[in-house]
Amino acid sequence: MIEYWLQAASTYAGDIDFVIELVAVIVGFWFFLTVGIFFWLIFAHRVSRSPRAEYLTGDEEQPKKFITWAHMLVLVCDVFIVWAAVQVWYEVKQELPLENGGQPQVVRVISQQWAWSFVHPGADGVLDTADDIRSVDELHIEVNRLYHYELSSKDVLHSFSVPVFRLKQDAIPGRVIRGWFEATQTGSYDIQCAEICGIGHALMPARIVIETPEQHAAWLAGHSPTQLAAR
Ligand code: CUA
Repeated sequence: MIEYWLQAASTYAGDIDFVIELVAVIVGFWFFLTVGIFFWLIFAHRVSRSPRAEYLTGDEEQPKKFITWAHMLVLVCDVFIVWAAVQVWYEVKQELPLENGGQPQVVRVISQQWAWSFVHPGADGVLDTADDIRSVDELHIEVNRLYHYELSSKDVLHSFSVPVFRLKQDAIPGRVIRGWFEATQTGSYDIQCAEICGIGHALMPARIVIETPEQHAAWLAGHSPTQLAAR
Protein backbone atom coordinates (compact mmCIF):
# COMPACT_ATOMS: atom_id res chain seq x y z
CA MET A 1 0.00 0.00 0.00
CA ILE A 2 2.82 2.41 0.95
CA GLU A 3 4.62 1.52 -2.29
CA TYR A 4 1.78 3.24 -4.11
CA TRP A 5 3.06 6.60 -2.78
CA LEU A 6 6.74 5.84 -2.27
CA GLN A 7 8.79 3.30 -4.23
CA ALA A 8 10.46 0.52 -2.28
CA ALA A 9 14.04 -0.07 -3.37
CA SER A 10 15.72 -2.16 -0.67
CA THR A 11 15.49 -5.78 0.44
CA TYR A 12 13.94 -4.80 3.78
CA ALA A 13 11.61 -2.00 2.59
CA GLY A 14 8.70 -4.46 2.31
CA ASP A 15 9.18 -5.68 5.89
CA ILE A 16 9.20 -2.12 7.27
CA ASP A 17 6.05 -1.35 5.26
CA PHE A 18 4.41 -4.48 6.66
CA VAL A 19 4.93 -3.27 10.25
CA ILE A 20 3.63 0.21 9.41
CA GLU A 21 0.55 -1.28 7.74
CA LEU A 22 -0.03 -3.72 10.60
CA VAL A 23 0.03 -0.85 13.10
CA ALA A 24 -2.26 1.23 10.87
CA VAL A 25 -4.83 -1.59 10.53
CA ILE A 26 -4.88 -2.55 14.22
CA VAL A 27 -4.86 1.01 15.55
CA GLY A 28 -7.31 2.07 12.82
CA PHE A 29 -9.76 -0.69 13.80
CA TRP A 30 -9.81 0.42 17.45
CA PHE A 31 -9.85 4.09 16.53
CA PHE A 32 -12.95 3.83 14.32
CA LEU A 33 -14.67 1.46 16.75
CA THR A 34 -14.03 3.84 19.67
CA VAL A 35 -15.14 6.92 17.76
CA GLY A 36 -18.25 5.01 16.60
CA ILE A 37 -19.18 4.00 20.16
CA PHE A 38 -18.44 7.50 21.41
CA PHE A 39 -20.88 9.12 18.96
CA TRP A 40 -23.47 6.40 19.52
CA LEU A 41 -23.33 7.07 23.27
CA ILE A 42 -23.70 10.82 22.71
CA PHE A 43 -26.86 10.29 20.63
CA ALA A 44 -28.30 7.36 22.58
CA HIS A 45 -28.05 9.21 25.89
CA ARG A 46 -29.01 12.67 24.72
CA VAL A 47 -30.80 14.79 27.26
CA SER A 48 -34.27 14.30 25.75
CA ARG A 49 -33.97 10.53 26.31
CA SER A 50 -32.23 10.36 29.65
CA PRO A 51 -32.37 13.66 31.48
CA ARG A 52 -30.78 12.29 34.66
CA ALA A 53 -27.15 11.14 34.48
CA GLU A 54 -26.24 7.91 36.23
CA TYR A 55 -23.59 8.21 38.90
CA LEU A 56 -20.87 5.53 38.79
CA THR A 57 -18.49 5.13 41.71
CA GLY A 58 -16.12 2.85 39.77
CA ASP A 59 -16.87 -0.13 42.04
CA GLU A 60 -19.78 -1.53 39.99
CA GLU A 61 -18.83 -4.79 38.29
CA GLN A 62 -21.26 -4.59 35.35
CA PRO A 63 -20.00 -1.37 33.66
CA LYS A 64 -16.36 -2.12 34.54
CA LYS A 65 -16.31 -5.31 32.45
CA PHE A 66 -16.62 -3.27 29.25
CA ILE A 67 -13.35 -1.53 30.11
CA THR A 68 -11.56 -4.71 31.23
CA TRP A 69 -12.45 -6.66 28.10
CA ALA A 70 -11.43 -3.84 25.76
CA HIS A 71 -8.11 -3.46 27.62
CA MET A 72 -7.36 -7.15 27.27
CA LEU A 73 -8.14 -7.20 23.56
CA VAL A 74 -5.91 -4.17 22.99
CA LEU A 75 -3.08 -5.91 24.87
CA VAL A 76 -3.47 -8.99 22.65
CA CYS A 77 -3.15 -6.72 19.60
CA ASP A 78 -0.03 -5.14 21.14
CA VAL A 79 1.59 -8.58 21.30
CA PHE A 80 1.23 -8.91 17.51
CA ILE A 81 2.67 -5.43 16.91
CA VAL A 82 5.65 -6.00 19.24
CA TRP A 83 6.29 -9.45 17.72
CA ALA A 84 6.41 -8.03 14.17
CA ALA A 85 8.37 -4.92 15.15
CA VAL A 86 11.09 -6.78 17.06
CA GLN A 87 11.65 -9.20 14.16
CA VAL A 88 12.04 -6.39 11.63
CA TRP A 89 14.17 -4.32 14.01
CA TYR A 90 16.49 -7.28 14.48
CA GLU A 91 16.74 -7.85 10.72
CA VAL A 92 17.47 -4.21 9.85
CA LYS A 93 19.40 -2.88 12.85
CA GLN A 94 20.86 -5.73 14.92
CA GLU A 95 22.07 -8.04 12.19
CA LEU A 96 25.00 -7.16 9.94
CA PRO A 97 24.68 -9.74 7.16
CA LEU A 98 27.72 -10.86 5.22
CA GLU A 99 27.79 -11.42 1.51
CA ASN A 100 27.93 -15.05 0.42
CA GLY A 101 31.57 -16.04 0.44
CA GLY A 102 32.93 -12.51 0.14
CA GLN A 103 33.13 -9.27 2.01
CA PRO A 104 30.39 -6.70 1.55
CA GLN A 105 31.24 -3.35 0.02
CA VAL A 106 31.77 -0.70 2.70
CA VAL A 107 30.95 2.96 2.15
CA ARG A 108 31.52 5.83 4.56
CA VAL A 109 28.75 8.34 5.14
CA ILE A 110 29.89 11.54 6.84
CA SER A 111 27.42 14.16 7.98
CA GLN A 112 28.14 17.74 8.93
CA GLN A 113 26.36 21.10 9.03
CA TRP A 114 25.02 21.05 6.27
CA ALA A 115 26.20 18.51 3.76
CA TRP A 116 26.79 14.83 3.27
CA SER A 117 30.09 13.47 2.07
CA PHE A 118 30.67 9.90 0.97
CA VAL A 119 33.75 7.73 0.61
CA HIS A 120 33.41 4.88 -1.90
CA PRO A 121 35.98 2.12 -2.29
CA GLY A 122 37.47 2.27 -5.77
CA ALA A 123 37.76 -0.62 -8.20
CA ASP A 124 39.74 -2.63 -5.61
CA GLY A 125 36.64 -2.72 -3.38
CA VAL A 126 38.63 -1.72 -0.29
CA LEU A 127 38.45 1.53 1.67
CA ASP A 128 41.51 3.56 2.71
CA THR A 129 43.45 2.90 -0.46
CA ALA A 130 44.66 5.37 -3.09
CA ASP A 131 41.69 4.83 -5.39
CA ASP A 132 38.95 5.73 -2.86
CA ILE A 133 36.41 8.07 -4.38
CA ARG A 134 35.09 10.96 -2.32
CA SER A 135 31.97 12.83 -3.24
CA VAL A 136 29.67 15.45 -1.77
CA ASP A 137 25.88 15.00 -1.71
CA GLU A 138 25.96 12.02 -4.09
CA LEU A 139 26.35 8.36 -3.14
CA HIS A 140 26.88 5.80 -5.90
CA ILE A 141 26.13 2.15 -5.31
CA GLU A 142 25.47 -1.03 -7.24
CA VAL A 143 22.07 -2.68 -7.41
CA ASN A 144 21.55 -6.15 -5.82
CA ARG A 145 24.77 -5.87 -3.86
CA LEU A 146 25.17 -5.91 -0.10
CA TYR A 147 26.64 -2.72 1.38
CA HIS A 148 27.72 -1.89 4.88
CA TYR A 149 27.84 1.77 5.78
CA GLU A 150 29.92 3.51 8.42
CA LEU A 151 28.00 6.57 9.51
CA SER A 152 29.65 9.40 11.42
CA SER A 153 29.13 13.05 12.20
CA LYS A 154 31.67 15.86 12.30
CA ASP A 155 29.63 18.13 14.54
CA VAL A 156 26.07 17.57 15.82
CA LEU A 157 23.32 14.93 15.57
CA HIS A 158 22.11 14.24 12.04
CA SER A 159 20.04 11.40 10.63
CA PHE A 160 20.79 9.48 7.45
CA SER A 161 17.42 8.89 5.82
CA VAL A 162 16.89 7.08 2.52
CA PRO A 163 13.10 6.96 2.10
CA VAL A 164 13.03 4.41 -0.76
CA PHE A 165 15.11 2.05 1.41
CA ARG A 166 12.92 2.80 4.47
CA LEU A 167 16.25 3.38 6.18
CA LYS A 168 16.77 5.99 8.86
CA GLN A 169 19.76 6.05 11.15
CA ASP A 170 20.94 8.78 13.49
CA ALA A 171 24.52 9.97 13.21
CA ILE A 172 26.09 10.66 16.58
CA PRO A 173 29.26 12.76 17.01
CA GLY A 174 32.13 10.64 18.31
CA ARG A 175 30.65 7.36 17.14
CA VAL A 176 30.88 5.30 13.97
CA ILE A 177 27.58 3.52 13.44
CA ARG A 178 27.52 0.49 11.19
CA GLY A 179 24.52 -0.70 9.26
CA TRP A 180 23.60 -2.24 5.96
CA PHE A 181 21.39 -2.05 2.91
CA GLU A 182 20.92 -3.81 -0.40
CA ALA A 183 19.24 -1.95 -3.24
CA THR A 184 16.75 -3.84 -5.40
CA GLN A 185 16.26 -1.40 -8.26
CA THR A 186 18.29 1.13 -10.16
CA GLY A 187 17.60 4.87 -10.24
CA SER A 188 18.39 8.11 -8.48
CA TYR A 189 16.62 8.76 -5.18
CA ASP A 190 16.51 11.20 -2.28
CA ILE A 191 18.65 11.18 0.81
CA GLN A 192 17.57 13.66 3.46
CA CYS A 193 18.80 14.60 6.89
CA ALA A 194 16.00 13.63 9.27
CA GLU A 195 17.22 15.10 12.55
CA ILE A 196 17.03 18.81 13.36
CA CYS A 197 20.66 19.91 13.13
CA GLY A 198 20.52 23.69 12.93
CA ILE A 199 19.32 26.43 10.64
CA GLY A 200 20.34 24.55 7.48
CA HIS A 201 18.67 21.23 8.42
CA ALA A 202 16.07 21.43 5.64
CA LEU A 203 18.83 22.23 3.16
CA MET A 204 20.69 18.98 3.79
CA PRO A 205 19.52 16.68 1.00
CA ALA A 206 21.65 14.40 -1.15
CA ARG A 207 21.11 11.79 -3.85
CA ILE A 208 21.69 8.08 -3.93
CA VAL A 209 22.41 6.75 -7.41
CA ILE A 210 21.81 3.02 -7.79
CA GLU A 211 23.53 1.61 -10.85
CA THR A 212 23.85 -1.66 -12.74
CA PRO A 213 27.28 -3.35 -12.33
CA GLU A 214 28.32 -2.01 -15.76
CA GLN A 215 27.20 1.57 -14.98
CA HIS A 216 28.89 1.40 -11.59
CA ALA A 217 32.16 0.11 -13.04
CA ALA A 218 32.07 2.96 -15.57
CA TRP A 219 31.42 5.51 -12.81
CA LEU A 220 34.30 4.09 -10.73
CA ALA A 221 36.64 4.23 -13.73
CA GLY A 222 35.62 7.80 -14.52
CA HIS A 223 36.11 9.08 -10.96
CA SER A 224 39.02 7.03 -9.63
CA PRO A 225 41.74 9.43 -8.41
CA THR A 226 44.53 7.04 -9.46
CA GLN A 227 43.11 6.66 -13.00
CA LEU A 228 42.44 10.40 -13.30
CA ALA A 229 46.03 11.15 -12.20
CA ALA A 230 47.39 8.72 -14.79
CA ARG A 231 45.65 10.51 -17.66
CU1 CUA B 1 21.67 17.38 9.36
CU2 CUA B 1 19.41 17.84 9.89
